[in-house]
Amino acid sequence: MAEIYEGAIDKGLEGVVACTTEISSIVDATLCFRGYTIEDLAAHSTFEEVVYLLWYDKLPSQNEYKTFCQTLHKEMALKDDLVKQLSSLPHAGVHPMSWLRTAVSMLALWDPDANEQDEKSQDRIALRLTAKVGSLVALFERLRQGKSYVAPNPEKSFAWNFMYMLSGKEPDAEVEKVFDTCLILHADHELNCSAFAARVTASSLSDIYSAVVSGIGALKGPLHGGANEQVMLTLLEIGTVAKAESWIKKALANKDKVMGFGHRVYKNGDPRAKILQSMSQSLTKKFGKPEFFEMSKVIHETVENEKGLLPNVDFYSATVYYSMGIPIDLYTPIFATSRVSGWLAHIFEQYSKNRIYRPRGEWTGHTGLKWKPLNQR
Ligand code: COA
Repeated sequence: MAEIYEGAIDKGLEGVVACTTEISSIVDATLCFRGYTIEDLAAHSTFEEVVYLLWYDKLPSQNEYKTFCQTLHKEMALKDDLVKQLSSLPHAGVHPMSWLRTAVSMLALWDPDANEQDEKSQDRIALRLTAKVGSLVALFERLRQGKSYVAPNPEKSFAWNFMYMLSGKEPDAEVEKVFDTCLILHADHELNCSAFAARVTASSLSDIYSAVVSGIGALKGPLHGGANEQVMLTLLEIGTVAKAESWIKKALANKDKVMGFGHRVYKNGDPRAKILQSMSQSLTKKFGKPEFFEMSKVIHETVENEKGLLPNVDFYSATVYYSMGIPIDLYTPIFATSRVSGWLAHIFEQYSKNRIYRPRGEWTGHTGLKWKPLNQR
């Protein structure tokens, strides 16, 4: 109704620039964190260094890196009391993202800084959250297997510790490196749905935990982070390389979405998918599952030829995690394990130049109705 509100509608806010940002940028098929390309960071950096870069807008010096790693790794430990409380939550038939959403919210109750707004308290919260989201994911898996909590080793990397806390076994160097690269690739991605959700919550000047829980809720959906699980379920349903092409053609003819393809911003390919593709090829081979890479390749070619759509970050990450033996419903929680660092960078950026998000909706409903008493309806 023009008389109520007149404005352009961009469904899904496509192309709308909602804020300025200095955290990550996407230009055509180039993704940068704080000015460094994702290829450069994936090849040379570590997750810990990327987190530091995202938060402090510079690569750490040797001393800064050492202190940051020590603090982060120490913070991965979960207090006995928290483990006890979390152990009492239901886990059978519960999606790990739902459990994680609740567990992160509970974490705030153990954090004395949770509602503090000074810089030092907020830095401590950011470290705790980034360190502990992965520990919570690992704990969930231990609990549902009827196993006990595994404490981290502060001398080891974040990637090493996550794999160790999950399985109780020390990962080999290749698995640690591949997992670390996955964490780097997922750490941030400009104004994606979950970062925007976190920023919207932060824009009311709500606390960091509330903003992170908003991010977790948004990431859970199959159109965002939840797609990586769906990719693996699709591969398992297809079952063989020989069936892949016809299965996908049928799905496209039915106008079904093929998970792990398409992107709102990238129209010429997602640079993260290219890196994950080569990791998927080597890991599926290493762990005796090469058919899943072959199947993925056929799907990739078929979707590209039929629809002109290219794989996004979720497509090849699925087979990377599957090769490592990670349960399928943990793929999105692992995404959150890394992305929490990006949400925190966005929350801080939002606080630093805040104006509350409050868009308008164009009214398309009834007008001019008159209320009638109940007995006259
Ligand atoms: N499989 C089949 N068709 C797809 C598709 C997919 N994965 N992604 C997009 N399309 C089609 C749409 O059906 C639409 O076709 P139409 O114009 O004939 O209706 C067109 O491409 C545009 O897609 P749209 O859904 O409007 O794009 P969007 O920008 O709103 O959504 C995604 C982007 C990522 C949500 C969307 O591509 C998608 O749902 N992909 C699958 C889920 C996924 O992998 N998500 C992870 C994102 S990192």
